Amino acid sequence: MEFSVKSGNPEKQRTACLVLGVYESRRLTPPAEQFDTAAEGFLGNVLRRGDLEGKPGQTLLLVNTPATLCDRVLLVGCGRERDLDDRRYKQIIAAAVHTLNDTGATEAVSYLTDLNVRGRDVAWKVRLAVEVSEDVLYRYDETRSRKDAPRRPLKRIVLAVPSRRELPLGEQAVREGAAVAEGMKLARDLGNLPPNICTPEYLAQRAALLAGSSPKFALNVLERADMETLGMGCLVAVARGSRRPPKLIALEWHGAADARQKPVVLVGKGITFDTGGISLKPGPDMDLMKFDMCGAAGVLGTMSAIAALDLPLNVVAVVPAVENMPGGEASRPGDIVTSLSGQTVEILNTDAEGRLVLCDAITWAEQRYEPVTLVDVATLTGACVIALGAHPHGLFSNHGPLANELLDAGRETHDRAWELPLWEDYQDGLDSNFADMANVGPREGGAITAACFLARYTKKLHWAHLDIAGTAWKTGKQKGATGRPVPLLTRFLINRAAAARD
Ligand code: BES
Ligand code: MN
Ligand code: ZN
Repeated sequence: MEFSVKSGNPEKQRTACLVLGVYESRRLTPPAEQFDTAAEGFLGNVLRRGDLEGKPGQTLLLVNTPATLCDRVLLVGCGRERDLDDRRYKQIIAAAVHTLNDTGATEAVSYLTDLNVRGRDVAWKVRLAVEVSEDVLYRYDETRSRKDAPRRPLKRIVLAVPSRRELPLGEQAVREGAAVAEGMKLARDLGNLPPNICTPEYLAQRAALLAGSSPKFALNVLERADMETLGMGCLVAVARGSRRPPKLIALEWHGAADARQKPVVLVGKGITFDTGGISLKPGPDMDLMKFDMCGAAGVLGTMSAIAALDLPLNVVAVVPAVENMPGGEASRPGDIVTSLSGQTVEILNTDAEGRLVLCDAITWAEQRYEPVTLVDVATLTGACVIALGAHPHGLFSNHGPLANELLDAGRETHDRAWELPLWEDYQDGLDSNFADMANVGPREGGAITAACFLARYTKKLHWAHLDIAGTAWKTGKQKGATGRPVPLLTRFLINRAAAARD
């Protein structure tokens, strides 16, 4: 989809479809009002007849509006003006795009970016309009024999800004929205691919494809033998149960003018399938564990977004890509392994594999890149889903200012995170009688003990951990990857780049 911005009066738009908002109950938004004056009160009559209340997400397609230049008008209900917040705005945009996509129109001019969204400026509304539209139009058909409807009439959406003065801002907002949308699409595609295709090797190939898209990328992939030589006992222990070899993928973005600038490192959990290993998971819904690489997908999607924006910052995505299987050489409960950090771990549950691959990936990234900041992203615990549900990511950090940057980035993009405590009090849950630590603690507070485990490997870093177990995919009828937290991470990095310029 192509997006652009434009200023000008709605009644003067020569377009296949004009998109206008209607508040509850039956009150025209200012652009709709203006259009209606030119259209001899046509819209007012329609509303008086009772065809559209203005409830959020309601739509009504009109043709043959008099004395105007557009072929169609799509009226979209916006609810009550004073209730128009982020969530409502996204809902309105989604409803409009759904309906637009079903019309015969190949392009549209939308005035929904003119709505008053509480506390949000034009750039925000343009960005979100682009992201939500692409999100709605996303289709997964890589593994279908018949590809989804080749007839995809909608090609171009023009978003209205109030005056010519806002055009440059609007154009930048389109670029940012499109970059994030593209990154989310990559994350969703990778997440949705089946685990027999999306293997560690495949993830490495996709990282290579991305690396080839810009000379500012560099790629480095470690093989099993490298991991063994380096002493990544935890990562290797998880990989043992599978015949598919693990890959440690490091995709570097060299965007900063000063090549020696220390990077931000993003570590993404890349378990391409999590059977639980010898601590085998129950059968029902086990297919969902193909999504256990959504942390990896999220950081790769973010790399795609920052490359599209040519961000002047050094960033490295580190992905431990491993399949967790119960093969003949798999780790057993009770095995003790030595991590790259030198700390020993008693594997009491082979299903707590995420923290095992992450701890070695984190230590390696620390040694190799000396990052200013390290953020890991992982579908780490079912307990996080119990604690927070599907809306915010769980956030943990050993550095207050970093936690705030991520919380802010989440609020700015409506890809929100919620902080949970990383208190020492929880650490003794990981005590082991035989090693420096166990890989699991008590069931209660499971998302926190998992974070506490990682905290033992990040003491010298400014570090944050996003548990995306509840947010990375949807279940039920809409089963599929969400592309989160690409918006949050990309915004976090855009803000970092802006701060570095000042
Ligand atoms: N990938 C899972 C976490 C998960 C489970 C995410 C269900 C989303 C839905 C992770 O590897 C895992 O199995 N965690 C265990 C940890 C436990 C053994 C301490 C869990 O959450 O049950
Ligand atoms: Mn597991
Ligand atoms: Zn897992």
